Amino acid sequence: MENVKSYIQANQQQFIDELIQLLKIPSISADPAYKKDIIACAEIVKIRLEEAGCDVVEICETPGNPIVYGEKIISPNLPTILVYGHYDVQPPDPMDLWDSPPFEPVIKKTEIHPEGAIFARGSCDDKGQFYMHVKALEFMIKSNQLPCNVKFMIEGEEEVGSSNLGWFVERNQEKLVNDVILISDTGMIAKDVPSITTGLRGLSYVEVEVTGPNRDLHSGLYGGAVANPINVLAKMIASLHDENNHITIPGFYDKVIELSDVERTKMAEAPFNLDNYKKALDIEDVYGEKGYTTNERNSIRPTLDVNGIWGGYTGEGAKTVIASKAFAKISMRLVPNQDWNEITELFKKHFESTAPKSVKVKVTPHHGGAAYVTPIDSLGYQAAEKAYEATFGKTPIPQRSGGSIPIVALFEKELKSKTILMGFGLDSDAIHSPNEHFGLWNYLKGIETIPYFYKYFTELSQ
Ligand code: BES
Ligand code: MN
Ligand code: MN
Repeated sequence: MENVKSYIQANQQQFIDELIQLLKIPSISADPAYKKDIIACAEIVKIRLEEAGCDVVEICETPGNPIVYGEKIISPNLPTILVYGHYDVQPPDPMDLWDSPPFEPVIKKTEIHPEGAIFARGSCDDKGQFYMHVKALEFMIKSNQLPCNVKFMIEGEEEVGSSNLGWFVERNQEKLVNDVILISDTGMIAKDVPSITTGLRGLSYVEVEVTGPNRDLHSGLYGGAVANPINVLAKMIASLHDENNHITIPGFYDKVIELSDVERTKMAEAPFNLDNYKKALDIEDVYGEKGYTTNERNSIRPTLDVNGIWGGYTGEGAKTVIASKAFAKISMRLVPNQDWNEITELFKKHFESTAPKSVKVKVTPHHGGAAYVTPIDSLGYQAAEKAYEATFGKTPIPQRSGGSIPIVALFEKELKSKTILMGFGLDSDAIHSPNEHFGLWNYLKGIETIPYFYKYFTELSQ
């Protein structure tokens, strides 16, 4: 790739300004009040793809938020890369924990990002990361170095489960035909330790409702004599893990594939410092399933976590009351071979069975998806490895991540191609949290590395 560095050098301010413009749009998919921002964001993505040099760009309507599709086909004899990303973002709350407003991007230096980082919701997840691909394409087209065909599919419902993307993919198999899928929506170990994500966990997300008496009661007059749904819910949730932090749902681990000792030893070679990990989170100690390391607990093992719990009186001061209802949102992260529908059923059956007769329980499944593992001997992985070697001067480490992009397993099923996850975020970038940010160095390094993937993937395919 000639001149990629000088092209970035000359245009970096423009690249940053364009990303800032995208980040100003609150394209929050979880809240229907932001529908017009979702549409506005899709429109800008369309314009930017046209400007980058796509021949065809369209906004594809779905029953939910639109998908932006773009392509540049130079020859039917060349391979085709399908780039996937998402322009929707997580809600920004809690608002008062942001140092600057989530949709008014600012650039600030941090210890890890001395070159500066853009602080805004979506900066790393995923606007900053998918936009690297738009700018990389612009470079390749402008410098006459695009070596193969490219298709873009940027969706607006990733953060709420991608339910309509499956619908779209099933109906557009021919349009989406490709040789490899390329995604930047994950992270890497550190700026001087490049890594390629080789695995994503699956997910089953449920909401539970526990109902006690038919109305809120005075906790003096009734307390002790009827079930308090909040007390009961707390007990039921606590019983979902045993003293070794194993999940107690019968059958939960039945299909889990255990890694071999060789694989676990290989995994443990990746650089990781437990003291720094604890320090960064200000915790005295880590916590988790007995018999597994921190890195195993957060990637190759399935987990169950309460994401939210509510009920009763949470306002100012005190109110003596036994609430009629208590609620919780619970997610289970799954590993290869666990079927998310089956796990949802196992959860429902078990949770209902642990409820005392004095309450009623309702379990409502939300969304889910399968785990994904990509092989490291594929052409795509080899091309990615060479691309990092070219720009980082180091061989990237394959690393399984704990996060989920449920649609990736569906891509493999429907489109029959492997996905390569070239993520440039850091765990400390605070995605889904207040003060989410994305390092300018990471942003520009991504733009620099992506064209090499195109080059090597095309060369290796011939
Ligand atoms: N980009 C993330 C997933 C991710 C981040 C994977 C970092 C690996 C490393 C994605 O936008 C996300 O947040 N996914 C959700 C699941 C989705 C169904 C809401 C998740 O993992 O919680
Ligand atoms: Mn994402
Ligand atoms: Mn996300």
